[in-house]
Amino acid sequence: MSDHRIPLAGVIGNPIAHSRSPRLHRHWLKTYDILGDYIPLHVEGDDLEVVLKTLPKMGFVGVNVTIPHKVHALHIADQVTDRATLIGAANTLTFLADGKIYADNTDGYGFIENLRQNAPDWQANSGPAAVFGAGGAARAVIVSLLDAGAPEILLSNRTRAKAETLRAEFGSRVTVVEWVQAGNMLEEATTVVNTTSLGMKGAAEFRVPLDGLRRDAVVTDLVYTPLRTPLLDTAEKMGCTTVDGLGMLLHQGVPGFERWFGTRPEVDDALRRAVLA
Ligand code: ATR
Repeated sequence: MSDHRIPLAGVIGNPIAHSRSPRLHRHWLKTYDILGDYIPLHVEGDDLEVVLKTLPKMGFVGVNVTIPHKVHALHIADQVTDRATLIGAANTLTFLADGKIYADNTDGYGFIENLRQNAPDWQANSGPAAVFGAGGAARAVIVSLLDAGAPEILLSNRTRAKAETLRAEFGSRVTVVEWVQAGNMLEEATTVVNTTSLGMKGAAEFRVPLDGLRRDAVVTDLVYTPLRTPLLDTAEKMGCTTVDGLGMLLHQGVPGFERWFGTRPEVDDALRRAVLA
C-alpha cells in the first residue's frame, strides 16, 4: 500500500465466532513480522454487498468468505478466477486498487495441497476417487480432483438428485452411486474423500461399510473435529494412508495471505498447533 494504513483482512460469515481463520492468519502475520490484522466479521446476508463495498475504505485489502456467503460473493465480484467459476462459489476476495473485487476459490487447491503434503506418494491419476457427499465442499473437491487428473469420480450422496446435478455439470468422468451402495465404490477407489458432515462431533455417525477399502487407498476426511474421525481411524487400521482435514483449511489460506500481505506463508507443525490451540 502506498499510504500509512495498516493492511487488514478478515473472514465474513454467519455464524463466525467459531472460525479458526483468525488464528491461522494471525499466526502467519506474527511469524513473518508483518504489520496487519485479520478480523472475524459477522455479516447478515442482505448486508454482504454494502459491507464488501465499504471494507476497502477502512484499510481492508481482502477477506475470506464462508457460510452462507460463498455463492453470493462470487456474483458480487467484478473479476472471478476460472476455478471459482467452476466451483460456483468464492472463498477469497481481494480488493484491487481500482476499487474492483477479485474473487477466487482456494478450497480445491487446499484440498489437493493437503494430500500432496501429507501423502507424498498420492497420485490423482492412480485410479478412481470415491467422494461421499454432494454439497458445497464436494464441488471444490470434485473440480480439483478432475483438474489434478483423476480418471473417474464415483459420487454418492444421501440425496441422489444433488449428485446427479454435479454429474450433469462436471461431465462423464463423474458416476453417481446410490447412497445405500456407497460402500461398493471403495473396491475400486484409490482416493477416498468424505465431504459430508458425518463423523463430526455432534453430528450423525459415518455408517458406510468400509470393508471394501483397498489397502493402497489414500483416505481423507474434510471433517476435522475430531481430527481422527472414525472413518480415518478405521482406514488406518486397515492399512490405508490417511490424511486429516485440518490441512485443507491451512492450505486454502495460503493464496489469500500471499495476495494480501505479499509473503507466501508455510504450512507447518507450528501453524497446526497454533490453529488447534
Ligand atoms: P458443505 O458446504 O460442508 O458441503 P452442505 O452443502 O450442507 O455443506 O452439504 C452437506 C453434505 O453432508 C451433503 O452431501 C449432505 O447430504 P444431503 O445432500 O443428502 O443433505 C451430507 N449429509 C449431512 N447429514 C447427513 C446424514 N445424516 N446422512 C447422509 N448425508 C448427510
